[in-house]
Amino acid sequence: MNPPARKPAGLLDIESLDRAEIQAILERAHFFQPIQNESFRRLDVLRGKLIVNLFFEASTRTRVSFEIAERRLGADTVSIAAQASSVTKGESLVDTLNTLVAMRPNAIVMRHSASGAPHFLARHLQIPIINAGDGTHEHPTQALLDARTILDQRPSLEGLRVAIIGDIAHSRVARSNVHLLSKFGAEIVLCGPPSLLPKELGLLAPGIRLTNHMTDAIRGADVIMMLRVQLERQHEAPMASGEYFRYYGLRLEHLELAKPDVIVMHPGPINRGQELSSDVADSQRSVILNQVENGISVRMAVLERILSDEVGTGAAA
Ligand code: NCD
Repeated sequence: MNPPARKPAGLLDIESLDRAEIQAILERAHFFQPIQNESFRRLDVLRGKLIVNLFFEASTRTRVSFEIAERRLGADTVSIAAQASSVTKGESLVDTLNTLVAMRPNAIVMRHSASGAPHFLARHLQIPIINAGDGTHEHPTQALLDARTILDQRPSLEGLRVAIIGDIAHSRVARSNVHLLSKFGAEIVLCGPPSLLPKELGLLAPGIRLTNHMTDAIRGADVIMMLRVQLERQHEAPMASGEYFRYYGLRLEHLELAKPDVIVMHPGPINRGQELSSDVADSQRSVILNQVENGISVRMAVLERILSDEVGTGAAA
């Protein structure tokens, strides 16, 4: 009798990765970063592999950067927006995925509005699943590209003061970043209006501090991560946009409270005049477009780790 097939490893979340795995991905991503103004190298380590990108929620940068990363590694790719699929005809998630698996892709990259959807499918399907964002739970490749971006500017994450500001309650980006940064000993401050900063978030990792005051969060910060207010996930009446900007919008004068070489990050899409002013978004301190660029090299590293026959140890269970 054949031994039971080993469950293929994908990438579901940051929480279950250890430091060594994260470090290996970040180092490999560094290798993939293009030299100034050059384009990304084209390799063929994933030649003959088929990757399906299945997005049940809107996405620009994540979907495009997965597609570019896949092509740069020589894989074949198919991208499906759920609005244009049989999901709109009432097909269940498992049936949709089983249909796709029958076409024998080597991995599925998926984004879904339900927290835990990729974990559920990974238990049922014999194929690596890469989580491109599940509900309010995790967005692992975003946290990896954020870490890569910080490490392009700083020698290590240890002891860095990172302020994460905005709609923390609904942010999978915040959760993945908290897990990653706390594994590497960063000091994390979460900040937002009380309705978007539930107290239990303080339990996500040891040593996290919560505050409702911007100035308190920003003072002495090495990194300021701004988040969009996720109106699509809010059921309660949102704060008026002008009022939100007044209390939680990042403006140039705030940066004076932070370390002189503070960097400003945002996973995008940004809403100018809502969570940050235009002059902050376009300032020398902003690394928002570096994050976008690093999305490609980090996703190349993740895909290679999961799918390449040579490296092929898998990034996570
Ligand atoms: C984020 C997301 O979708 O979780 N965006 C992204 O992937 N770059 C954050 C957001 O939508 O605000």
